[in-house]
Amino acid sequence: MDVDIQQRYLFARQLVQKVGSIALDFYLNRNKLEIECKKGESQDLVSIADKSVENEIKSALKQHFPQDGFLGEESGADSLEREFCWVVDPIDGTSPFLYGLHAWCISIAVLRNKEVVAGVVFDPLHNELFHAALGCGAFLNEQPIKTAGATSVKEGLTGVGMSHRVQPDTFIPLLQRLLSDGGMFIRNGSGALMLSYVAAGRLIGYFEPHINAWDTLAGMMLIKEAGGVTNNFLANDGLLKGNYVLAGCSEEIFDYLNRIKPKG
Ligand code: IPD
Ligand code: CA
Ligand code: CA
Repeated sequence: MDVDIQQRYLFARQLVQKVGSIALDFYLNRNKLEIECKKGESQDLVSIADKSVENEIKSALKQHFPQDGFLGEESGADSLEREFCWVVDPIDGTSPFLYGLHAWCISIAVLRNKEVVAGVVFDPLHNELFHAALGCGAFLNEQPIKTAGATSVKEGLTGVGMSHRVQPDTFIPLLQRLLSDGGMFIRNGSGALMLSYVAAGRLIGYFEPHINAWDTLAGMMLIKEAGGVTNNFLANDGLLKGNYVLAGCSEEIFDYLNRIKPKG
């Protein structure tokens, strides 16, 4: 592996575990957190936990890789024209986190010249670190992982995600088709974790009509390195505007979801 990528991949794995314990402390004391709604949207929550974890990540990166750019959910974009950029969601699954549910994580992707070269997703509650670097495979902690072998949607669970950023009718038809064809959906409130579960063979695919780069880039990297198939998320300015995300454990599942996804 290229030494510049290797340094960042190693650093990302250490950093995500370090800030994971800060996030876990906030989670265990979440009744003391003040919760705000972003842009007046009642289902889009944020707390001091999200902001503190992102600040920790940003300042560690400033210290160790001052030449790199940064895009974080809470603090936005900084120097994205640089060769290396870090794309960070300090807590993915903020609603589960704040409501005391169990699906939340920290997601960090490393880009080189706008291509994802490493991704880490850490779930501190279950001590699961999903990680991958370009061309080097995907891992859960120290174990290599690969996507499920399903070729029909009947053979497993399909992850889905939804937010109030899009109209319900850009989503509901897919559920209808999936159920009619003998599939079953699941949503746990963390897109990054569900994508990691596709990589680990726990889910057979994932669809969400609009999601942001900080939620998806690390998870999509994991899926590709674990043998799955994804859409080109970074097309059409996906880094800054977000995009739909579609992933399959196999070509067959990807093609199926691609066929039934709402058009437009
Ligand atoms: C959200 C989660 C959710 C997905 C949303 C995201 P947040 O991120 O990943 O599963 O459906 O699109 O915005 O707000 O928990 O960081
Ligand atoms: Ca998120
Ligand atoms: Ca978040």
